[in-house]
Amino acid sequence: MNKHYFNNKQYFLRCFFKIFSLFLLLFSHSTSIYTKNITVLGTGYVGLVLGTGLAYFGNNVTCVDVDQEKINALNAGKIPIFEPGLEQIIKKETTFEKLSFTTDITSALQQADVIFIAVGTPQNADGTANLSFIDSAAKMIGQNLNNYKIIITKSTVPIGTGKRIKNIIASYANPTINFDVVSNPEFLKEGDAVNDFLNPSRIVIGAETEEALNVMKEIYAPLLAKKIPLIATDLPTAETIKYAANSFLAIKISYINEIAQLCEKTNANIEKVAAGIGLDPRIGNQFLKPGPGFGGSCFPKDILALSKTAENVNVKLSILEAAIEANKRQKEFIQEKIYKALNYELHNKKIAILGLAFKANTDDVRDSAAHDIIKGLLDKKATIKAYDPIANENMKKELPSITYSKSVYEAATGADVLVILTEWPEFKNLNFSILKEKMNNTIIVDARNILNSKTIKQLGFEYYNIGNA
Ligand code: UGA
Repeated sequence: MNKHYFNNKQYFLRCFFKIFSLFLLLFSHSTSIYTKNITVLGTGYVGLVLGTGLAYFGNNVTCVDVDQEKINALNAGKIPIFEPGLEQIIKKETTFEKLSFTTDITSALQQADVIFIAVGTPQNADGTANLSFIDSAAKMIGQNLNNYKIIITKSTVPIGTGKRIKNIIASYANPTINFDVVSNPEFLKEGDAVNDFLNPSRIVIGAETEEALNVMKEIYAPLLAKKIPLIATDLPTAETIKYAANSFLAIKISYINEIAQLCEKTNANIEKVAAGIGLDPRIGNQFLKPGPGFGGSCFPKDILALSKTAENVNVKLSILEAAIEANKRQKEFIQEKIYKALNYELHNKKIAILGLAFKANTDDVRDSAAHDIIKGLLDKKATIKAYDPIANENMKKELPSITYSKSVYEAATGADVLVILTEWPEFKNLNFSILKEKMNNTIIVDARNILNSKTIKQLGFEYYNIGNA
């Protein structure tokens, strides 16, 4: 059985189970007996998935955003992000009037028993998290506090933000009305967010009162009934769990990427090394996939924010700093591979880039390794033709000067080298005869180790991957 066949079979089985669970989801009904009026502030990845999931649990959910265009689109059934399964549940819950979208923040706040804050926390120039959206949400909540409410942070926020939110609300609110602030970090992954929301590995709740904790348990009753573990703790501990989790995963990726570099010098095979260490349950086999460097809206931003937080309290997170540095070097390492494959002559060389999203199953290009690698190649005067199944439009906004193709083969036409940067399933099943016909040079750099090295070389391609896989 060759590796391709094995990969395909696994992939189709995974797809089948995902489609099957989504099917079950769409035709099932919520199980919560504790219906609440919930307002979610912010309709980004986290807010939209959260609001939809809470509506699915049977709550009355209002999602608020300041972006009128986005709200109009959502009310018209148009989902602004690509997230498998989300659109169908949104349609179902809006039809049952469990889920609605508005820009009217005042009424949405006043009618809520529970308010989730899921607004963005973009990165400041110095790497710290920008809390201006959080602060204005807290101010609005304070100004509209008409009865006891629980305010929950879902956005990834620096440690200590729960306390900050509490102080802001208190400074604007009627002092006779009580409220509680809770930290309830989200661990969902883009591309698998619906499944992650409905089947999380754990629920973390940082609460200061018994009352708030009990309400949170009611909200998550459908998940607690499935025996999903609950970590009940205080605000700073919950906030730290989120950053420590993302940082640990990022460290794991940087570690395997460096070991892959070592494998190239020692003639070891990184995929076997990863499998060999991953089978030790103390290490675990996930997040040991070498690649062009981690990206996305979370890891790069969150680990920098955590290292800044530590710096401010005079704690040195040296392992984290090394992981950040290693991630920069990994992108340079991939560029170096491309230069080398082209004998260090990039001027006017045509490079076909396959994959722009920061990982497969998303159209998100934020902090994507592809962005930095393409920029490095452009600086060396290479000509880039790129193709991504769904992220072309988003990358166009960041890198308007390169050419975007409608297919792999259009991008490959006339190319001196073909570079795979995102592990999209369609790149695992390329038609190599067509590629041979279309490409100028039959060179492939596979920065995700998705092709079978032996097969590709036998087909007459010059092939480079990561860590002799
Ligand atoms: C990440 C976390 O996995 C989620 O648990 C968390 O909730 C989320 O951040 C967040 O804080 O909101 P996400 O950014 O969607 O989720 O993406 P991941 O699947 O974690 O991938 C991040 C990056 O690491 C991608 O560029 C991916 O290609 C890379 N990666 C991942 C590797 O290079 N190797 C691996 O083995 C795994």
